[in-house]
Amino acid sequence: MRSLLFSVAIILFFPIAQCLTPECDTRDRGSTLQILHVNSPCSPFRTESPLSWEHSVLQMQSKDYARLQYLSSLVAGRSIAPIASGRTITQNPTYIVRAKIGTPSQTLLMAVDTSNDAAFVPCAGCVGCSSSAEFDPSLSSSFKPLPCGGPQCSQVPNPSCGVTTCGYNTTYGNSAISSTLAQDNVTLATDSIVGYTFSCVRTSTGTSLPAQGLLGLGRGPLSLVTQSNSLYQSTFSYCLPSYKSNNFTGSLRLGPNSQPKRIKTSPLLRNPRRSSLYYVNLMAIRVGRRVVNIPPSAFTFDPTTGAGTVFDSGTVFTSLVKPAYTAVRDEFRRRMGNATISTLGGFDTCYTVPVTVPTITFMFSGMNVTLPQDNFLIRSTAGTTSCLAMAGAPDNVNSVLNVIASFQQQNHRILIDIPNSKLGVAREACS
Ligand SMILES: *[C@@H]1O[C@H](CO)[C@@H](O)[C@H](O)[C@H]1NC(C)=O
Ligand SMILES: *[C@@H]1O[C@H](CO)[C@@H](O)[C@H](O)[C@H]1NC(C)=O
Ligand SMILES: *[C@@H]1O[C@H](CO)[C@@H](O)[C@H](O)[C@H]1NC(C)=O
Ligand SMILES: *[C@@H]1O[C@H](CO)[C@@H](O)[C@H](O)[C@H]1NC(C)=O
Ligand SMILES: *[C@@H]1O[C@H](CO)[C@@H](O)[C@H](O)[C@H]1NC(C)=O
Repeated sequence: MRSLLFSVAIILFFPIAQCLTPECDTRDRGSTLQILHVNSPCSPFRTESPLSWEHSVLQMQSKDYARLQYLSSLVAGRSIAPIASGRTITQNPTYIVRAKIGTPSQTLLMAVDTSNDAAFVPCAGCVGCSSSAEFDPSLSSSFKPLPCGGPQCSQVPNPSCGVTTCGYNTTYGNSAISSTLAQDNVTLATDSIVGYTFSCVRTSTGTSLPAQGLLGLGRGPLSLVTQSNSLYQSTFSYCLPSYKSNNFTGSLRLGPNSQPKRIKTSPLLRNPRRSSLYYVNLMAIRVGRRVVNIPPSAFTFDPTTGAGTVFDSGTVFTSLVKPAYTAVRDEFRRRMGNATISTLGGFDTCYTVPVTVPTITFMFSGMNVTLPQDNFLIRSTAGTTSCLAMAGAPDNVNSVLNVIASFQQQNHRILIDIPNSKLGVAREACS
């Protein structure tokens, strides 16, 4: 009787934990998936007790710090394995989409990360994973563990082949993860990717591995983008909803169909040594109408050191190398006259008077992206304090990388078109 009650409870609990609340659940259609912020009111993963404005901003910043450390470790030129890229992955991902895995399919709300190739799926029986968000391989007729010695197994770091299946251990921030490499069909909206290779997580210690698993949208060899190339031709776009929004109309659109035709684009740069990342050529920054005086070296793309500018969805606030940030900030302050400056955590340019800087423009080769205030000011709920929502690269991180982050991308459609080597940006109200 007890065990019956227990399993009923699990069955009831399972769909609640895996699904969006009904009013949030707009169906994924065609090749378009709903994308939402992990802390949005629709997300089952959001923290229950809403933090104060200051606390939530400070928390996002501290996660950014870990994220920037991770990205810097990627560009610092460590050997990069296609799955589980890099030794430390520290940040908590910010946006989630619905993925269906196996036959019959099991629904998981997975974190998307445009700077990673990894796909980590918490598998049933996983020790240390969140039990509410697991994939059960034994219930899928199309699940296939991958053997030792197969081509995929040679691409993970230190595979352990004591058993017949390909196993490997890796770390993810403070989590130590033990996985087996496996294949199964993955369905995204109504499209099926047959035989998708991912890491089935068996053991996880620490707190860094996201409960929801991770879907890497980087451009490296074993990422979703590369594995689904015949279906989606390595083309996708996304529009990120505001992290504060009640709305949930952000979307991830896969494949070349129904992508915006009229969109500004800039060449996408490929760095073979940092194969996951989406590099672009940032050339200058305008505060209002004035082009800020920044040494060109702050922006130079260098495949060897990894220096340059990337678009990333896992970092919240845009991070610029010190000389670039200082120049932008000083011009911003100059425009504010002698209004009193305060600080908040890592933000050093906050005001309690209305901010008079109307726009900030990122000037990429071939494309100027002019951001409205909502994309560069973080405002307290009470509206009394606004901060310039960008930061200089942390001091003790090898800071050669400029990161155009999600706060600056909200309510814009970002198009990644790998065959034509283009990154596009267009304003779109998606939250
Ligand atoms: C999964 O793939 C197998 C072939 O490996 C196929 O027979 C099956 O129909 C697929 N299932 C789904 C849900 O697409
Ligand atoms: C991998 O991790 C598992 C679980 O923590 C452990 O039992 C195993 O010994 C580890 N294998 C290697 C090769 O480190
Ligand atoms: C949500 O979307 C509706 C229209 O779709 C809009 O009227 C409303 O202002 C939006 N709410 C927020 C908080 O963005
Ligand atoms: C600067 O501050 C002084 C004294 O507080 C004030 O009189 C003046 O109008 C301010 N200037 C600007 C440009 O805001
Ligand atoms: C970007 O703006 C500058 C003016 O600040 C202009 O000279 C340049 O032609 C613009 N670039 C594009 C691609 O529109």
